[in-house]
Order: sequence, then structure tokens, then C-alpha cells
Amino acid sequence: MANHLFQLDGKIAAVTGGTRGIGRSVALGLAEAGADIALLQRNPSQLDVKEEIEELGRTCHIIDCDLKDTDQVKEAIPKVVENFGKVDILVNAAGIQRRSDAVDFSEEDWDEVININLKTTWILCQQAGRFMVPNQGGKIINFASLLSYQGGIRVPAYAASKGGVSQLTKALSNEWASQGVNVNSIVPGYIATDMNTALINDENRNQQILDRIPAGDWGKPEDFIGAAIFLASDASNYVHGHQLAVDGGWMGR
Ligand SMILES: NC(=O)c1ccc[n+]([C@@H]2O[C@H](COP(=O)([O-])OP(=O)(O)OC[C@H]3O[C@@H](n4cnc5c(N)ncnc54)[C@H](OP(=O)(O)O)[C@@H]3O)[C@@H](O)[C@H]2O)c1
Repeated sequence: MANHLFQLDGKIAAVTGGTRGIGRSVALGLAEAGADIALLQRNPSQLDVKEEIEELGRTCHIIDCDLKDTDQVKEAIPKVVENFGKVDILVNAAGIQRRSDAVDFSEEDWDEVININLKTTWILCQQAGRFMVPNQGGKIINFASLLSYQGGIRVPAYAASKGGVSQLTKALSNEWASQGVNVNSIVPGYIATDMNTALINDENRNQQILDRIPAGDWGKPEDFIGAAIFLASDASNYVHGHQLAVDGGWMGR
């Protein structure tokens, strides 16, 4: 009985950032729970994740989508609907980081981070909402960050973008909760992915971070599978506008 709450059979999930890191684990996890997957990715010749999804017995289409290209971003959800007939779940997991002292932070980096992390999340949510709201159902999961709450160090654009993602999640939830669409965020703590290579390789920073995490270790991409299935499934039908921290306890400290 309870297991039914977490099943995604027959659901269609559109996922950004599915080529690597957290997004890849989430795409595979949703597929394992029963969903067919549209991978919104910029390199159509990268087939490994599509093949892993197909090995699980699910259907997977790659939708060409460079998040730097606003036209492609606007076309992505309509293409998912064209390929699969609908979209039930949207996961905005793609994101980028740029590090520099604030006084040297370039306008180019600022625009790129804000556009990819925040503007494309907004466009994809809006496009998905245009399908989900009239159909009275859908699940949207945005990837926020600890830096939705804290300012971080040498990452002004990233902190601003992730603060925006959290607020966007709440704003859309306030409009769409009564329409059967759940909009929630996952808040990763410090996770060992390519995004954090610079921090992991910096012995001092790495130790400071480890000392501050109650769980005592960096998180792994697989740690997000359970949270994503929960927020994508009927198990979370009355959960709206929530920020679900998966952070080894960081926020509680
Ligand atoms: N790792 C952490 O500690 C952490 C902490 C807090 C929040 N987050 C958030 O969690 C999410 C996943 O992070 P992660 O660490 O798994 O990231 P990651 O390993 O660096 O992977 C980033 C993903 O975003 C995609 N992407 C970047 N630019 C793109 C573009 N122009 N067009 C299409 N796709 C693009 C990448 O695709 P390509 O393979 O094509 O480059 C890749 O799939 C992000 O939103 C991140 O901000 C992560």
C-alpha cells in the first residue's frame, strides 16, 4: 500500500542537468521508480545516461537544450510534450558556479550564472506550468542551495541566483498549489560533484567544510534519489512550496 505512494509508472519526467552529478542520479532514480525520462541536455551525442535509463526498461528521449540559448529553453517543454504526449514532472537540476572575489567578478560571469541558474529555471517552470495547470496535475522540483539562505564566499552571482530559485519556488507554489501542481525545492548541502572540485582540492577549505557538517562527510549524488522520488510522487501531494534540505545536517547547526 505505502509503496504505491512512491511509484512513478506511466509518468513523464523532464530533467535538466541529467548528464552528470546530482541530476544524473535523480534521472536514473526516477526511471527506476517507473518514470520515462526526457533529458534536456546540450550535447545530444552524450548517450550514456539515456542508455542506462533504457537498460532499466524505461523510454528516454534527449531533447536538445543548451541552457545558454533562450530559444532552445523555451522550446524544450513543448518538445517533451510532442515526444511523450505530456509532462508530469519537471526537475531543474542543471546549474553552474563561478568563483571570484566580488570586486573582480565579471559582468559576463554574473549574467551567465543568473541566466542558467535562475532565468532558465523560471522559463522551464512557466512552460511546464502552461501544460500542468490546465491539466490539474504536475510536480516541479527546483534545485536551490544552502546559498539560498547563506551568502557563501566569492560566489555572489550563485548566491543571488539560488536565493531567487527558492523565492521562485514559493511564488509559483502560491499560485499553482490549488491547481494540483506541487512546486518544491531540494536544498543540497556540500556534495562531491564536479561543481566542488576546487573546494575539495583546497585542503583547508575541505577540512573546514567537513568539520561543519554534522554527518561528517560530503554528500553523494545518490543521496538525492529518495528526496526526488518523494517530491515527484503521490507521497508529497500535500507538500507545497517546501525547501527540502539534503545536507548532512548543515542547516540545523
Ligand atoms: N554540488 C553541490 O554541492 C551543490 C550544492 C548546492 C546546490 N547544488 C545544485 O544542485 C544542482 C546539481 O549540481 P551538481 O553538483 O550535480 O552539478 P554538476 O555536477 O556541476 O553538473 C551540472 C549539470 O548542469 C548541466 N549544465 C550546465 N550548463 C549547462 C548548459 N548551458 N546547458 C545544459 N546543461 C548545462 C551540466 O551539463 P554538461 O554535462 O553538458 O556540462 C551538468 O549536467 C545544481 O543546480 C547546483 O547548483 C549543488
